[in-house]
Amino acid sequence: MSEELFPVPAKWAQDALLDAAGYAAKYQKSIEDPEGFWREEAQRIDWMEPFSTVKNTSYAKDDFRIRWFEGGKLNISANALDRHLADKSDTVAILWEPDDPAAPSRSLTYRDLHTEVCKLANALKAQGVAKGDRVTIYLPMVPEAAIAMLACARIGAVHSVVFAGFSPDALAGRIEDCQSRIVLTADEGLRGGKKVPLKANVDAALDKVAVDRVIVLAHTGTDVPMKAGRDIGWAEAVVDQPAICEPEVMDAEDPLFILYTSGSTGKPKGVLHTTGGYAVWTSMTHQYVFDYQPKSDGSNPVYWCAADVGWVTGHSYVVYAPLINGATQVMFEGVPNYPDHSRFWQVIDKYQVDIFYAAPTALRALMREGDEWVTRTSRKSLRLLGSVGEPINPEAWDWYHRVVGERRCPIVDTWWQTETGGAMITPLPGATDLKPGSASKPMFGVRPALVDPEKGTLIDGAASGALVIADSWPGQMRTVYGDHQRFFDTYFSQYPGYYFTGDGCRRDEDGYYWITGRIDDVINVSGHRMGTAEVESALVEHPLVAEAAVVGMPHEIKGQGIYAYVTTNAGTEDSEDLRKELVQWVRKEIGPIATPDVIQFAPGLPKTRSGKIMRRILRKIAENDTGNLGDTSTLADPSVVDDLLANRPQ
Ligand code: PRX
Repeated sequence: MSEELFPVPAKWAQDALLDAAGYAAKYQKSIEDPEGFWREEAQRIDWMEPFSTVKNTSYAKDDFRIRWFEGGKLNISANALDRHLADKSDTVAILWEPDDPAAPSRSLTYRDLHTEVCKLANALKAQGVAKGDRVTIYLPMVPEAAIAMLACARIGAVHSVVFAGFSPDALAGRIEDCQSRIVLTADEGLRGGKKVPLKANVDAALDKVAVDRVIVLAHTGTDVPMKAGRDIGWAEAVVDQPAICEPEVMDAEDPLFILYTSGSTGKPKGVLHTTGGYAVWTSMTHQYVFDYQPKSDGSNPVYWCAADVGWVTGHSYVVYAPLINGATQVMFEGVPNYPDHSRFWQVIDKYQVDIFYAAPTALRALMREGDEWVTRTSRKSLRLLGSVGEPINPEAWDWYHRVVGERRCPIVDTWWQTETGGAMITPLPGATDLKPGSASKPMFGVRPALVDPEKGTLIDGAASGALVIADSWPGQMRTVYGDHQRFFDTYFSQYPGYYFTGDGCRRDEDGYYWITGRIDDVINVSGHRMGTAEVESALVEHPLVAEAAVVGMPHEIKGQGIYAYVTTNAGTEDSEDLRKELVQWVRKEIGPIATPDVIQFAPGLPKTRSGKIMRRILRKIAENDTGNLGDTSTLADPSVVDDLLANRPQ
């Protein structure tokens, strides 16, 4: 790992909201006096009624509670919209760039967004949606996705956004788990020139689980079948609705949204976030991490987070935080390599983007295509770059810094999770000297710690271990929807008194944190979380599959790829055709992001005598690190390992 140090550029230290001393003082205050610190930070939000308690949290098993800003009343959509109407109503909130660069772009001011959100909120009410009801959103990257989320928040409905790349089965499972009675979707999505049949996917999902209403946005304008009595067009639903909708008065701890994410075991979990703490946390982190403040001429910097709203990064740093902070942002429907590998940089030039936030996987894919695609664009507007979703390898960091940012833009490598709501370990551009590959220092109020995974004891100083967080922060998830016990068991039972992140981490002598990746059975494919158990259960649903074991493997572009060992039923021919069929099968069951990179047919899997699969061995074979497989003597049948080694696909 590179230990090169990139000091804060002098101009940044001078102009940023916080310099190194400012960060240190604020961090110290946040740890020494959390109550005082958060009472002050909470003032960034407009409260309808003030909170009475700042922090009421405990990770203890018999006294487990996570509550912030109790008694406070607010509406997050009013914070994202209404309060900007006085002085920012004509400020552009969203600059929407379509998949096809030749298609018309759209620009929505805060006033426009307010009107659209109110109309849809009224339409949802007219469809019978009430406070506390769950609403499933399955939309492409169009402004209506943000409008839908904010409309739910406005009336106190709990949105559950399902990434538009997920399959009908995955969508059905998520609708069922949170029992939503209504789905918002579009006729089709567009990505890289290809159409995504969203309405058809919804129809297929609704063969398995019923809902009362589907609202369908005409996006590509293609004809889609509409089921009488169930489906209604978006335009028709909103056309007669008033452009004013009073925001519902929400308690700080009322649920805001559910977002499903993969864990080590079982089905994806419905991560539930609440209103007040999330609003404070996301807007504060967005302001400091991206140094979001007016430019010297008083105008808004143009911010672009290239994440999809289907993931937490899109929730926090496309929809909620930038809008709460009154930002101007680009929202992009497309992909980095369409129509060519210059697209990101062309969009940056088109909108004069100041701040750009993307995932390492996209950078690695573009880096491979050569510098020409980048250097033919100007990028003079860029001042700050961000990275999220997976460890950024020093090569990609260097390329991002040197080629994309021409050495003038700091890179904020933000470590966080669906569960954490916002950035937890991250540099601040005016405050933190950068080390490529390190997420660096904790955000205010975050107390990271390392524990020895075997002994469960805390480790001090420069060391490696399991990353845990010692105290609560306002943006922390509050429960797993419908399964509070699973929430406690997953995150708070391994190391009592700590939130366990699932990540491994090294802390160096300067107190910098280096995330080394998941240490549980979660793999990170192109910055997307995938549970190995999910892919395994999709595989064993195939009628010819008896057993499957899935592990991660290193992948040049995706970070990690999916390596599946499959045992077929007796008498099955393990053919190339079956291999292809299984790949398609998983894509259909979960979605293209779960496409296995390697399928190895295995007559037997390495198991202990008690029947437990020894994943350590499977991981080593997948990583092609077969020199030392460790002790195999405890295996019920050590010869299966020889077979696996002999038949490893090249
Ligand atoms: O392993 C860490 C990795 O992504 C996981 C969280 O995934 P998800 O909930 O989908 O949220 C992704 C977007 C916030 C983490 O447990 N991860 C995320 N950011 C980084 C990272 N690993 C290293 N460096 C990062 N900056």
